[in-house]
Amino acid sequence: MKTSLRSDVDPFLVMDIMQEAALLERQGRSVIHMEVGQPSSGAPKEALQQLYDRSLVDTLGYSVALGIPQLREKIAAIYKKRYKLRIDPQRVIITSGSSAAFILVFTAFFDVGDKILIGEPGYPSYKNILKSLNLKPELHSTTLKDRFQLNLESVLHSESSGILVASPANPTGLALRRNEFKSLIECANKKKMTFISDEIYHGLNFNGSDVCALEFDDNAIVINSFSKYFSLTGWRLGWVIVPSSFTRTLEKLAQNLFICPSHASQLLGLFVLNSSVNFDHKVEQYKSNRDLLMRTLPKIGFKDILEPDGAFYLYADVSAFKKDSLVLVKQILRQTGVAITPGYDFDTKRGHKTVRFSFACSHADVEDALNRLTDWYQTYQVSSV
Ligand SMILES: Cc1ncc(COP(=O)(O)O)c(C=O)c1O
Repeated sequence: MKTSLRSDVDPFLVMDIMQEAALLERQGRSVIHMEVGQPSSGAPKEALQQLYDRSLVDTLGYSVALGIPQLREKIAAIYKKRYKLRIDPQRVIITSGSSAAFILVFTAFFDVGDKILIGEPGYPSYKNILKSLNLKPELHSTTLKDRFQLNLESVLHSESSGILVASPANPTGLALRRNEFKSLIECANKKKMTFISDEIYHGLNFNGSDVCALEFDDNAIVINSFSKYFSLTGWRLGWVIVPSSFTRTLEKLAQNLFICPSHASQLLGLFVLNSSVNFDHKVEQYKSNRDLLMRTLPKIGFKDILEPDGAFYLYADVSAFKKDSLVLVKQILRQTGVAITPGYDFDTKRGHKTVRFSFACSHADVEDALNRLTDWYQTYQVSSV
């Protein structure tokens, strides 16, 4: 029996690092996890209690494919509050994390062989999901000068039917400026490219307000999730907003591909949005983590770091260590117990000389990690003389 060509996608190297980290922990070593991109806190207790109470009186069978209406309404209300946009709840489709939203959107808007423009470095699943659907990622190597975001030139020269941007982005935490965002959308529209905006890190912004693609174009496809700002990572809950004329197309696909997102997770999401829990204190924590990393990492060999605008990632050049990033990351893990991610996951061409730090951990963990890395760097310098 053979496997399909389209299933031949790249593995996540970060998983290998996580495995090695787990092995070290089993041996009694202390590991600081700066490799995984998820908040360290979980769902608010009050919402969990409400879910538990509901589960005692409700069978929690399938919901409708588009998601429970009250949750769709609450999500539409987020757009009013955050961006002053009126979104018809009929345009909001609930999904199993943003990951399922990508499958729905790519399937709904593109045909086999279609190309979609994405920037590298970027979130690795974009290209891998596209490939598994027999679509073609058009990978554009973005530059430090463009703050690792797609520029107008890349859109102008693109042969793709669609474009996907993330702002703030994984692995850099860098966001498109309002005018850049507007120009990209206008240019994509002129070229009749479907514009997809991954806004999963909205809410985690250190420099003011987030910019939503719908502020410039009501036809943009916007994807978001409960995994990051709302810390519901493992509950697998996300959403996508499409123009109302496409809701039915996505509904039919969602019915067949997924039946519905987890009913329990949808209720939890609803209880979280109905509650008075505020997640903004996490933004403060991530910002102080970012500031400390920005002050210290350049002193210990990590270069070309642009200050993240949001999310909880920072991307650094490690060419100064004269080592492949995967080899370096494994060495750092073994010698210091600090786990970070090699750039290979995010950039097929240049990932050998970059790494990503995730700073979703506690401030004390960041301090500890930096102390360990500082000590390690001193011995590293001595041994490489
Ligand atoms: C940029 C980006 N988009 C999408 C996802 C997928 O998130 P989820 O499926 O948990 O919503 C991630 C996960 O880290 C991400 O970094």
